[in-house]
Amino acid sequence: MPQDQLKLAVARAALAYVPKNRIIGVGTGSTANFFIDALGERKDDIVGAVASSDATAERLRSHRIPVFDLNEISDPLSVYIDGADEISAQGAMIKGGGGALTREKIIASAATQFVCIADDSKLVGTLGRFPLPVEVIPMAHSTIAKTLAKLGGKPQLRIRDNRPYRTDNGNAILDVSGLQIEDPLWLEDQINAIPGVVTVGLFARRGADICLLGTPTGINTLRF
Ligand code: A5P
Repeated sequence: MPQDQLKLAVARAALAYVPKNRIIGVGTGSTANFFIDALGERKDDIVGAVASSDATAERLRSHRIPVFDLNEISDPLSVYIDGADEISAQGAMIKGGGGALTREKIIASAATQFVCIADDSKLVGTLGRFPLPVEVIPMAHSTIAKTLAKLGGKPQLRIRDNRPYRTDNGNAILDVSGLQIEDPLWLEDQINAIPGVVTVGLFARRGADICLLGTPTGINTLRF
């Protein structure tokens, strides 16, 4: 079954986790885009959404879903719904392939429940085959790369259109390949402690609570 059909199926299934008359958190990426399009049909049921990227905010608005600044909201978000680049059987994730990892982590941390939506290619035994994105202050990318190499990875500055990629926050991204992440909590803390690192795309401290995993035979609901 094509991956897009699996993404569409889990995106639609995630609507069951959207509470009525609330503001929800919405992620970034192709699976999140399917979710936003599905949410568009239910837009009158919710008050609005907090977006994890400029692209998500634009897509939400295209469906006339009100977009809120996180600072405007006093109550915790009841749910954050987003995709992942990889997810482990314990609910730890690699995220940030689309570059939105920092806002994703902020919104995830402000939500009571994290519902991950993913096709079954994202479920892995050990995280690390997908290069781990690390958002960094641009002036520090080479010193951070040296430290990441000491941790066993091969960091590469993300390039788009022949120039260093910039996140919505104006920062650079190092994509770290060659890691076998046996202890995601430890590695998340180690990388977060490097001066100049804004966010590591390891979501272990605040992992998923639920994963709706799309498979050719139906949706598996994993609870962590
Ligand atoms: C965006 O920065 C990422 O964290 C995405 O959530 C992740 O890359 C999953 O994207 P897809 O749904 O496009 O695979």
